[in-house]
Amino acid sequence: MEKLPMILLLCSMVIATPVVRGVVEGPKVVEEWFEKLSHVKEKVAKLCFYFHENLGKSQTFMPVAQSNITYTSPNFFGLVVVMDDPLTVGPEISSKLVGRCQGLYGSTSQIEMGYLMVMNFVFVDGEFNGSSLAVMGHNPLKHIYHEVSIVGGSGIFRLACGVLTSWSML
Ligand SMILES: *[C@@H]1O[C@H](CO)[C@@H](O)[C@H](O)[C@H]1NC(C)=O
Ligand SMILES: *[C@@H]1O[C@H](CO)[C@@H](O)[C@H](O)[C@H]1NC(C)=O
Repeated sequence: MEKLPMILLLCSMVIATPVVRGVVEGPKVVEEWFEKLSHVKEKVAKLCFYFHENLGKSQTFMPVAQSNITYTSPNFFGLVVVMDDPLTVGPEISSKLVGRCQGLYGSTSQIEMGYLMVMNFVFVDGEFNGSSLAVMGHNPLKHIYHEVSIVGGSGIFRLACGVLTSWSML
């Protein structure tokens, strides 16, 4: 396979809300840890960054499972891939690293190239360092524009919801 750099521009609408206290009592140490976490007011944010999925010597994704028809199916039906892709501020891979996209995608469509994406965007820089966004949705690979859901998060993104839109340059 030829080298296939993929760059996606991601813009997310993120809503971080104050923490809802759990009703189930947990071990005291966990409760104390949770109480000490900083709580932020709900706000709307828009983030833009670039996502790089690379083949080659620094391959960032790995097929881990397939069905017995994956490699004879036109859409690789049944293929499951694990990825750990860098997220950067600019389109060049050498630009500043802001996080990593760690997750799975699987070919779940027999009709077109359609993937189920299940990913965590784990941030490693600035005010978002240590926080993550959980993303899940349908990705029709051959379309230029994609939309998947932000279904939650951790740290500053605790209880986040929103939309992740992307554009791919294959
Ligand atoms: C794939 O596996 C299923 C279930 O074991 C089997 O019924 C089917 O015949 C297999 N198909 C091919 C193309 O080998
Ligand atoms: C991000 O947080 C980790 C863990 O607290 C720390 O080691 C690291 O230096 C931080 N990175 C930046 C760029 O602030």
